[in-house]
Amino acid sequence: MRKKVSFYGAGNVGATTAHWLAEKGICDCYLFDIKGDSAAGKALDMYEASPAIGFDSLITGSNDPSIIADSDVVVVTAGVPRRKNPETGQFPSRDELVKTNQNIITQVAKNIKEHAPNSIVILVTNPLDAMCHVMLEETGFPRERVIGQAGALDTARYKTFLSMELGVSVKDIHGMVLGGHGDTMVPLPRHTSIGGIPVTEMISKERLDEIIARTAKGGGEIVRLLGYSGYYAPAAGTAIMVESILQDQKRVIPSAVYTQGEYGYNDLFLGLPCVLGSGGVERILDMELNDEEKAKLDYSADAVRAVVDVLGYTK
Ligand code: NAI
Ligand code: 2OP
Repeated sequence: MRKKVSFYGAGNVGATTAHWLAEKGICDCYLFDIKGDSAAGKALDMYEASPAIGFDSLITGSNDPSIIADSDVVVVTAGVPRRKNPETGQFPSRDELVKTNQNIITQVAKNIKEHAPNSIVILVTNPLDAMCHVMLEETGFPRERVIGQAGALDTARYKTFLSMELGVSVKDIHGMVLGGHGDTMVPLPRHTSIGGIPVTEMISKERLDEIIARTAKGGGEIVRLLGYSGYYAPAAGTAIMVESILQDQKRVIPSAVYTQGEYGYNDLFLGLPCVLGSGGVERILDMELNDEEKAKLDYSADAVRAVVDVLGYTK
């Protein structure tokens, strides 16, 4: 029997993640959204593509949250993006947006706990690291089953820019982006290689700094071009995490994980190198960071902590 993956929120990222996964034929996809019949409509439209593309995944959708019942994995993208209030013409403050999405994720967590208590949750909703705290707190799930998607996307952007710079296949680029999902994320050039050759031998420090800055502002670059946030790459990053879990691939994917002493952090979600398998986060890999890299990760952790503080939890 194929595994069941639910998409809690069937907007741009949720539906596109379902699309990537359905095409691989590795799971059945259940879409849920509160917006009228949109989840049912998108699911049927996608399902009708299966004969043409040749995949066997079942795809269905509903505005009833019980559709997620007994899922193996739940991908959560439900939330409100940062957009202007049409009446006041003002953007919400960061704290207002945190509170709005905290309320939404609290409700989502209750439904997941009720309908899919054994699932592994992959969270995507922003502000990512803070919303992971809400999910962990409100479901009471063990930390290995609440995982944030950010590093998979940020790393994909980093590798894309390196590939563009060097004219080499993305398949031969190895590297990782750690830290929080935001401008303070931490790409690691000292640990990046091209076919095994250190990238620092191939690109000057000045140019690498520019690529790193572009990576850190990668989300904003897409928003400027589109007028709303990207979804193909975010969905692809989410899909590889789900795939690694469903197929117990044990891929090393930087993911937001609840730290309990790793890298010197405690009680904080932060992007670290994780082994993802059928148990969710099965291990957090340790790597040696030099003083400069650790200082950057500390700075990123402080930025995450500042948003988490808005949630009002005691830890
Ligand atoms: P979207 O607006 O296209 O989709 C969000 C969907 O959530 C909408 O269809 C909406 O009806 C639904 N929704 C809202 N409240 C809900 C509820 N209580 N129950 C069920 N569904 C609900 O937005 P998009 O582009 O899919 O982004 C989703 C989230 O993911 C945003 O918070 C965005 O900032 C974040 N994001 C995070 C990334 C990451 O790397 N972590 C990358 C890209 C987006
Ligand atoms: C991104 O990085 C907005 O978090 C989203 O594209």
